[in-house]
Amino acid sequence: MRIVAALLGVALLLTMSGARAHERITTAVTWDREISAIFRARCVNCHRDGGASSIPLTTWAEARPWARAIRQEVMTRQMPIWNSSRGYGDFSNDPSLSPFEIALVAAWVDGGAPRSFVPKGSPAIRLPGPPEVPLVPDSIAEPSHGPTRETVVPCGDRPAPAGRLVGLRPELAERRSVRVLARLPNGRQESLGWFHGSKPAVSYWLRTPLTVPAGATLHIAFTVAAPRLIESSHVPDPCRVRLIYQGTTSAP
Ligand code: HEC
Repeated sequence: MRIVAALLGVALLLTMSGARAHERITTAVTWDREISAIFRARCVNCHRDGGASSIPLTTWAEARPWARAIRQEVMTRQMPIWNSSRGYGDFSNDPSLSPFEIALVAAWVDGGAPRSFVPKGSPAIRLPGPPEVPLVPDSIAEPSHGPTRETVVPCGDRPAPAGRLVGLRPELAERRSVRVLARLPNGRQESLGWFHGSKPAVSYWLRTPLTVPAGATLHIAFTVAAPRLIESSHVPDPCRVRLIYQGTTSAP
């Protein structure tokens, strides 16, 4: 009877931790060493108590049951959330993972998602282990542009205010997008970004600020993201972009 109870206990532990009995650790990538550092920098500002997501991922114990979903979200670049299309503009606050970081997360999940190092081939029996200290998100460095001023421009073709443009903040409903292009008087075109509506609105900080000369124009093209919503594009939609310039007074 006692043996049965003990077996049941082990079975329960295995079930609770989401592990299958035959699963073995086949990776040297661990939560403690590589993965927690990535999560601290890129995930837990939202995935914690009071964050934007209801799923906390601040400890291995919290993250482990989500391992498969984490792999999926990271590989498909759904997470971390970033509402600007890759290849349009370059932003200093882009939280996207590097291909190497994505590979680490995938290797960790595929190898059994271990918390700390165990010799390869050990069974993935996940006993609670020593208590974990929940991760505290890395503080996100605010860009240091000094004082800034902001101008809100509606979508369409507009003269661009002159000055040193350091950031953009689209004001859009969800499933709406804008592509922002600057046309400079010398004929050069700068793609400033392709942004998708998000709540809350996000400021995108240009990695390289753009000096906008007098006579430049902005081309802000509005699109509706989901095909089945195209009809509603006939309805006037809020579409504005807040431009953030360095300094408190416009350039002479
Ligand atoms: C800007 C906030 C934010 C950031 C940063 C973020 N997430 Fe999320 N995540 C969310 C929201 C919101 C959801 C939707 C589910 C919810 O409401 O909790 C979500 C959902 C998920 C889910 C569940 C998907 C499912 O199967 O339903 C996983 C897994 C996940 N995120 C992993 C991550 C990982 C890993 C990172 C870091 C690399 C990350 N997230 C960064 C906000 C964020």
